Amino acid sequence: MSRSVDASPPSDGHLSTHRSDTLHAVTEPNSPASSAASSPADATDPSGGDNTHSSEAAVLGGPVVLVAGARPNFMKVGPLQAELDRRSIPNRLVHTGQHYDPAMSDVFFDELGIRPPDHHLEVGSASHAVQTARIMEAFEQVVAQEQPSWVVVPGDVNSTMAASLVAAKMGVRVAHLEAGLRSRDWAMPEEVNRVVTDRVSDLLLAPSPDAVDNLRAEGYPDSAVALVGNIMADTLLANLERARSRPILVTHGLTPGGYGLVTLHRPSNVDDPDTLRPLLATLGEIAEELPLIWPVHPRAESALNAVEVPAGITRIEPVSYLDSIALQADARVVLTDSGGVQEETTVLGVPCVTLRTTTERPITITHGTNQLAGTDPDAIRQATRRALDGDVSGARPDLWDGETARRCVDALVAHTAANIPHH
Ligand code: UD1
Repeated sequence: MSRSVDASPPSDGHLSTHRSDTLHAVTEPNSPASSAASSPADATDPSGGDNTHSSEAAVLGGPVVLVAGARPNFMKVGPLQAELDRRSIPNRLVHTGQHYDPAMSDVFFDELGIRPPDHHLEVGSASHAVQTARIMEAFEQVVAQEQPSWVVVPGDVNSTMAASLVAAKMGVRVAHLEAGLRSRDWAMPEEVNRVVTDRVSDLLLAPSPDAVDNLRAEGYPDSAVALVGNIMADTLLANLERARSRPILVTHGLTPGGYGLVTLHRPSNVDDPDTLRPLLATLGEIAEELPLIWPVHPRAESALNAVEVPAGITRIEPVSYLDSIALQADARVVLTDSGGVQEETTVLGVPCVTLRTTTERPITITHGTNQLAGTDPDAIRQATRRALDGDVSGARPDLWDGETARRCVDALVAHTAANIPHH
């Protein structure tokens, strides 16, 4: 187990240097520390370093277990699996089965070349308590069997929190990928998952400086925090050309810049027909000016028995990762309540109108192309008007550069080598 990993400095000394560069302060973008931290192998072993790679595996002392369960997790574990493989660090992928429809799960593995899960827990859908409990019960056996050096949990879904609790209680180090995000909306199940996961995690892999600020304000020591950037950008940048060659626009009779994309799945928007109905009515008004396409999430689908979809909004089945990126990239505006889509539109530079009153990703507003409109019809109309009039611009945040997986693995190795106790 990780707590008993022998973290004495490796004989080549590479990692002890790396450790002192990275772990006594939060790594800042473009700082000497961040460049020194970015690749211990490259810094010390110009040959590319099989020795360094095998010493990294030795320092870790056990496989890294990656946990994925729901659709927004898969594109986050893909680059980590690839980076661990590249550095010959043993790793295992656990799929909790929180999402199970082929369109919500298998298609992401196929498109992104993610190896099939080593363990599939097949928990399926249930209430929060039952789903969380099922994941915990099954994941405990996986941890006992695999004896991991780390359990890495991405995102903010129930699988994230459930796996982190199990690992923490079994004395295995936990790294939270996407740490420090806060909507401050305690009614969101994801906010509970974020706060709990961060608290039990040993290493907080933060996507942006605002997330680091949140963690500092909550009292986390800098030694537990690494600013690594946004792992979704790794996947997006690596797959953008493939996405652009997909025929999805043609399939649905769309032209670049000639449509808007809608995604909706937050319980607060779709579970109550009396909330969903006026929201769709406002989107229907927008659709009179700009046709809208809406890949419908299963959660929203069940609400549509009670709510009519206005003309001008084309409903389609959930789309694959590459098709989602293709639809976002060529949209004139994206109207969404998804966290990931707020980030992807910022990377793509496409205007985004967020149909929520809060966001845990404020950098998409301060730096990116996102506007927070809530569900007030006037606010949605105004934000959409700005987007259609070309009054929205943004830049890609620092460290959303396609190199986040490398920085994550650097941080795992360095944290282990430094043998930092839980804060
Ligand atoms: C979950 C996450 C949410 C994330 C979203 C992305 C939690 C608390 N919520 O929400 O943060 O943004 O995934 O999609 O973890 N269903 C299917 N097929 C599936 C999966 C689900 O039909 O493959 C249906 C079931 O009726 C299920 C419902 O969708 O009850 C909700 O699924 P669930 O995983 O509980 O939550 P999501 O709304 O998908």
